[in-house]
Amino acid sequence: MVFQLGCMGTPTLTSNDSIPQVLKAIVANQTNHALWLNTLSLLEHIGSRKILLTQSNEETSEMILRHATEEARHALFFKKAARTIQPEFRSGYQNSSLVRGTAARIYFAKLDTLVRKNLRSVFPEEKTFTYLAYLYTTTVIEKRAMVIYNAYDEILDKSDSPIRLTNLILEEEGHLSEMSAEMFRLDPNANERLAHLEAEEAKIFARFWRQIGEFSLN
Ligand SMILES: [Fe+2]
Ligand SMILES: [Fe+2]
Repeated sequence: MVFQLGCMGTPTLTSNDSIPQVLKAIVANQTNHALWLNTLSLLEHIGSRKILLTQSNEETSEMILRHATEEARHALFFKKAARTIQPEFRSGYQNSSLVRGTAARIYFAKLDTLVRKNLRSVFPEEKTFTYLAYLYTTTVIEKRAMVIYNAYDEILDKSDSPIRLTNLILEEEGHLSEMSAEMFRLDPNANERLAHLEAEEAKIFARFWRQIGEFSLN
């Protein structure tokens, strides 16, 4: 476990360090585990819907269609996985069927606003702006998702769970490399911008993850 020095010189856990322990606590409780899987389903669904809503135009490419389709499939995968854990689980996306549903939605919306604000003044042309907003928002979220999915998959493996994320992780890796190629093609400051946005996302994520951590103790 990695400790970082806090401002007072005392060691503090970063939200990344708490990921495995929070996930272990969730997985240990069947009801909470099903709600967690449904929350991942919601986040994948929001991603898929957002791609289709914002990237449907004359230039819609095979890459866009593949990403939207795969995110929709991931949403279904997690929804079905919730039923594998808890056969009676048959819910939509009501807050009562999610782990801190409002916090999950706020995390996504805040990130979207952050990216749009950053890009708006630099890319005034609407098409490029919208496309880059998709590339950056998705890349930052997927980089976070990879940290969580890898930690989660390790826990599933150790607990001999029937659920594994192997294929899903491979597909997300594919998305990341395709989007990164596009970002660097269109934005001369892609490296710096991505680093800045990731640092800002870490703050938004810390708030979100704190709430998931509180839930896991229930
Ligand atoms: Fe996905
Ligand atoms: Fe993806």
